[in-house]
Amino acid sequence: MTTSAPPRFDDAPLSAVADFHRASSRHSWDRADTPFRPTAPSTQALPPAALPDNALSACIAGRLSCRRFDQAAALPAAALSSLLHLSYGHLGMVETLQQTLETRPVPSASGFYPLAFLVFARAVENLPAAIYRYDPSAQSLSAIAALPDAPTMMQVFLQQPWAAQAPAIVVMTGQPQAVVGRYHARGYRFLLLECGHVGQNLLLGAAALGLAGCPLGGFEDYRLCCAAGLDAEREWPLYAVALGSPDPAHLSDLRTPQVYAQP
Ligand SMILES: Cc1cc2nc3c(=O)[nH]c(=O)nc-3n(C[C@H](O)[C@H](O)[C@H](O)COP(=O)(O)O)c2cc1C
Repeated sequence: MTTSAPPRFDDAPLSAVADFHRASSRHSWDRADTPFRPTAPSTQALPPAALPDNALSACIAGRLSCRRFDQAAALPAAALSSLLHLSYGHLGMVETLQQTLETRPVPSASGFYPLAFLVFARAVENLPAAIYRYDPSAQSLSAIAALPDAPTMMQVFLQQPWAAQAPAIVVMTGQPQAVVGRYHARGYRFLLLECGHVGQNLLLGAAALGLAGCPLGGFEDYRLCCAAGLDAEREWPLYAVALGSPDPAHLSDLRTPQVYAQP
């Protein structure tokens, strides 16, 4: 038995993505040794879904993509520190039968932990505005570049004012050498998957701390690399989350993009 032909798309971007998907698949499409065994169609009702009555459920229910941050409220430094720690911090070491492993709040393929955090801090209490790199082991931030001015922030974040003017943005970057060295093209999938784990922690952590976040796939990679002084050959911006306090004047509609008065 053979599998159906790999998907082909006329549309050029989709075709390029399908090529990458195929190239990063663990099994070639023209070789099927797992037989497909059809069954008669049937649908099983599940018990009613219910969130347990606990803090995690409240954070999951409260998560949303906030595009209205309180412009008068700086992000508390303690809250930022907690968010970074519970998203990608260093939780400690654990002894297994075979080795001593670093534990972190997210899983990572082969334990490489190939991501890093840059923090674009615009309005964080007791922290001069700048771009910082997070050190999870020392639980510290090191300034690496000046924060771009407002028009440049708008360019970097594709004219999204709720991003450009958020109190802080955590940018996840990926350092691909180890994971791509081991898993080849599939390693790129793992970089992105790991961003998803971390991004959800940032969003749920924000909800737990009474803050809010907006996930950001919309940014100009190269401009962002230039602003932060990244070596674009070795470290790639992959995903970001804008963070701040939800605007108390719009609590019933935080998702609608923030509109600013014209000067
Ligand atoms: C990978 C990814 C990239 C996203 N990029 C942006 C973005 O650049 N700007 C934005 O305002 N929202 C962005 N979003 C948020 C989505 O628009 C949002 O999750 C979706 O509309 C569902 O709304 P909710 O998150 O409020 O439930 C992104 C979400 C994901 C998962």
